[in-house]
Order: sequence, then C-alpha cells, then structure tokens
Amino acid sequence: MSRNILVAVAWPYANAEIHVGNITGAYLPADIFARYHRLRGNRVLMVSGSDAHGTPITVRAEAEGKSRKQVYEHYHHRFLELFRKIGLTYDLFTTTHSENHFMVAQTIFNRLLENGYLYRETEAQWYSPQEERFLPDRYVEGTCYLCGYENARGDQCDGCGSMLDGTQLIEPRSKTGNLSLELRETEHYYLDLAKLTPQLSAYLSADKDHWRPNVIKPSRYMVEEIGLHGRAITRDLDWGIPVPLEGWEGKCLYVWFEAVIGYLSASIEWAKNRGTPAAWQDWWYDPAARSYYFVGKDNIPFHAVIWPAELAGVGRLFPDDRGDWLNLPFDVPANEFMQLEGDKISGSRNWAVWGLDVVERYGADAVRFYLTINMPESKDSEWTWSEFQQRNNDELVATWGNLANRILSFTYKNFNEREPEPGELQVEDRQLLDTIADGFDSVGELLDAVKLRAALQEALRLAGEVNKYLEEQAPWFSIKRDRAASARSVYTALLAVDSLKIIFSPFIPFSSEQLHTFLGYEGKLFGEQSIDSYQESEGSHTALAYSDEDAIGRWEPSELKAGQLLCPPEPLFRKLDESLAAEEMKRLG
Ligand code: MF3
Ligand code: ZN
Repeated sequence: MSRNILVAVAWPYANAEIHVGNITGAYLPADIFARYHRLRGNRVLMVSGSDAHGTPITVRAEAEGKSRKQVYEHYHHRFLELFRKIGLTYDLFTTTHSENHFMVAQTIFNRLLENGYLYRETEAQWYSPQEERFLPDRYVEGTCYLCGYENARGDQCDGCGSMLDGTQLIEPRSKTGNLSLELRETEHYYLDLAKLTPQLSAYLSADKDHWRPNVIKPSRYMVEEIGLHGRAITRDLDWGIPVPLEGWEGKCLYVWFEAVIGYLSASIEWAKNRGTPAAWQDWWYDPAARSYYFVGKDNIPFHAVIWPAELAGVGRLFPDDRGDWLNLPFDVPANEFMQLEGDKISGSRNWAVWGLDVVERYGADAVRFYLTINMPESKDSEWTWSEFQQRNNDELVATWGNLANRILSFTYKNFNEREPEPGELQVEDRQLLDTIADGFDSVGELLDAVKLRAALQEALRLAGEVNKYLEEQAPWFSIKRDRAASARSVYTALLAVDSLKIIFSPFIPFSSEQLHTFLGYEGKLFGEQSIDSYQESEGSHTALAYSDEDAIGRWEPSELKAGQLLCPPEPLFRKLDESLAAEEMKRLG
C-alpha cells in the first residue's frame, strides 16, 4: 500500500552559509528518508525554504550595510546551489519571502483569530526616538539590574548569566548607535496556548512510542509540568509579513510564528506549480498520511508544541478544503548537534566546515557518507578530519567502493563485458542472495524508524558479506581451472552488488546512479533537480524543485539478467591521503 509521506525540513535562516552541522542535523537525514520512501513507492512530498525574515537577517544586513532583501537573496542562492550539489531532493525548496507564503501565513492568523485563539495585550517595550522604531531584545544594551555588569543585553546578561527582563535594564541604549531609549506602550497579538492546552495534551499523550525520548520528554514537560501561557506572535518590525488587520501598520508576524507555516505554504505552492492546486491536501488532511519534521534540537519546542498548537487552532484552512482538521506532526526526529575538532561549530570564529567548500573538495557522497555514519541522532557527535579521512578509506572505499569496482572490472574483462550465465546456483550462492534480500527488510526497518546511522551500518555489514563470499569463492583464481564455477560466483556477486546499489542509494545516491550505469541499465534511479524562477504578481522568486516521473529505482532485490551488457567501470570513490587532516586543520579558526 502506498502511503503519503510529508518530509518537512527545517528552514535555514538566510543570513549565513550552511555548515556540516546544519546538514547532518536536519537536511541530510530528511533527504535519506525521502529517497528511501520514494524507492518504496510511497508518495513523498519534501518541502522547505529559506527563512527570510526575523532579527538574524536584519542584524546581518546592518553589519554589512546591505538591504535585508539583498542579504536574504544572496544566501538563498547559495543554499540552492549547495542543495543541488549535495543532492538534497526537495520537491520544493522555496522561501518565506513569497506572495504565496504571505497569503497562507495571513490566512492562518485570521483563522486563529476567528476561532478565538488569539488575544491582544499591551506591554512596554524599548523605543528609539531617533531611529523611530521599537527595538528587539538583542538590540538593547544597558547595565544589568542584578549584577551591575555594564554591557548586558535585553534578553541576557553575560556578566552573571541571568535571563533578563529587558524593560528593567539600567541606562538602556540602542546597540546600533549608543542612542538613548524610552519605554513605550505597544500592543501585540498573542497565541492563546493556555486555551490550546487540552488539544496539545491529548496530542502529546497519544501513542508516541516511535518518538525519540529526547524529543517527547521535553515536549511533555513543557505542556504538563511547566504549563503554557500566551506568546506574542506579532512584533514592531517593518521586515516580514504584515499583520493582516487595519490599524496594525508597522507590525509584522513574529518570525517563528510564520516560519513554521512554511511547511504548509510550500506544500500549497508545490501543488500550484505543478498545476494540481488541491494536491497538497493529500498530505495535510488524509489521516493516514504521515508527516516527519527534520529539525535540530534547538527547534524542538517550536515543532512539537507551538506548530501543533497553530495547526490544532486552525482546523480547516480554506472553506473548500476536503478535511476539517490539518494533520499534526506524526514524528519530529530531531537531531542533536555536531561538534568540530573538540569545539562547538561557530561561523563567526570560522570554526566550521562549510557545505559548499567540502562538497567541492571531496564530492557529495564522501561527505554524505561521513555525515550519516556520524550523525548526531541520540547524542552530540563530532567531525574530525582524521576520522573523515579514515572512514572514507576504510569503510566507503575499502568495504563498498572496491567491492563494486573489483567485481565489475573482473566481469567486464573476463566475461565478454556481460553478466555471465551462471548455470545452476549452489547453496552458498543462494545463501548470499538470501542474505542480501533480507537486507532490504533489515535496512528498511531501520530507515522506517529513522535510525539512519544504524541503517548505513547495516548496509556496510551486507557489503562485508559479499566481500567474504568473494574471498571464499575467489572467482579470479577459479577462472583458470573451472570457468563455470567462476561464472557462477561472478553472476551471484554482481547480483548482490546490484542490490546493494539500491540499499546504499538513499545515503550515497551519486555513486549508486553511476554504478547503475556501469551495470548497463538505462534510465536513472532518482529524478532530476532544477533551479527555477517563479513569477509572482509583483516580481519573482527562485526555488529548487525535484521531479521524478522517469525515476526507476525500486526498493527490491536485483533482477539483473545473464547476458546484460555492462559499461566500462571506473572507481566510485577516491582514497584520501593521510596528510589531509593537517591541511584541513589549517583552514580552521
Ligand atoms: N530558521 C529557524 C532556524 O534555523 C527556524 C527553522 S524551522 C522553521 O532555527 F520551520 F521554523 F522555519
Ligand atoms: Zn548580570
């Protein structure tokens, strides 16, 4: 039975380059999961985009003397380029700065308002008369009212480490120019999380055995133990999505409130783009559909509590929709963080491995392999260059790459460039093929459970079985005295390698595609990615899209036929020199 699977991926802030920690934290696991489900014949919709609004973009723009639109567009294009190169098959990677997203976010605001889940409240906030604007917490500095430290920020004091109430700072000033500030009353809309608590409690207490403990525990704790109170969802800002009400000019929806709406708006945009405007509903109203949200651990409350609250409060999005309730997240398989060489990754200190850089230097699959085998699924992990080099050579190359290359080259040379006729298979041949066939279940079960590290480990174990088989059968020796026996082992091993090509393909798709061609197949396992420009009523935006109409990959054991003509093989991966670690360390810091 084919299932509808929504793969919802965290939206990167368009204010900085993407590093390996971001990739292994959310984007890569999502892609592996999506590719696997497509091979399984499920209907996958994988969406995300650039998070274009909010303070982070404003901070960067002011630091660089650029407009916020310039900043967002620059990084957005860098993301599109990286994601295409590293093979992240978003059905749509769009942006929160699109007309469609504005419309959907404002619709959600209106629904919540109609349904009685928003309320208004007035509070005091720092205002800069010279700049004529209210300041976000991070823009206010002053003396800490707890410890007297002079450079405390509106949200936190680095002197005593306390969280602060910004309105109590002594001698507050604007970070941007030492300007004096005054407190002014400002009115905002609040999401009534207290009123939504019964729905959230029911949602979080229902069967969550498939959730990771590090996700479900803090979410339940937030709702049941701490208790939820209203949260302001508007801000005094001019960069973002305007509050869709008269008299609210100059106020925007809070970036966190609207960014999570991106999953829904991107699904709607995807459906419109392909000329089937209602198709998104298959993932958002069908109760059997499943949605998986791939995010980093810092995003857990927003995806396991706030976003479900928004969805539950909305009910039906548009009057003609075919359901009454939008689907809440089926799972939020959030990852922990990846450290780098014993320290936290930090862009500003250049303590980072940048996505575009590393993919250009070592190729997408080498990077994908290391980021998967070392994924921070249940605890923090660490990127070290020496481990990267070693695991590339000892596992990716030695266990898998050499196996594929060796058997292909041998067959190509000795059996007329074709998969040979095997004659009757022997027990050991059948055993190997059974082991590999079972691998589709064992690896599949781990992938279903979003245990991607273990799944890749299991795939490597299977490759190890084929290596063992070949050592025992040694067709390179038997060919001299018993050509039929050699042909049988070669036939069997190639069949196994053809199966492993599929099993490895969600993790390292580029080499699997290549191997697929070497094995003499036409057509491609996966679909095509393209970067396109989408017209809007005023202007346009660019996005990355994926289409897989012609994709032929299936999560099933090989049916390679004797006689199939092979293509001249080449090594799938590159062995890396030990000197690499020292060289790469020089780039850091
Ligand atoms: N841009 C935010 C972050 O990187 C939010 C990501 S997920 C979203 O942490 F859905 F909320 F956008
Ligand atoms: Zn202090």
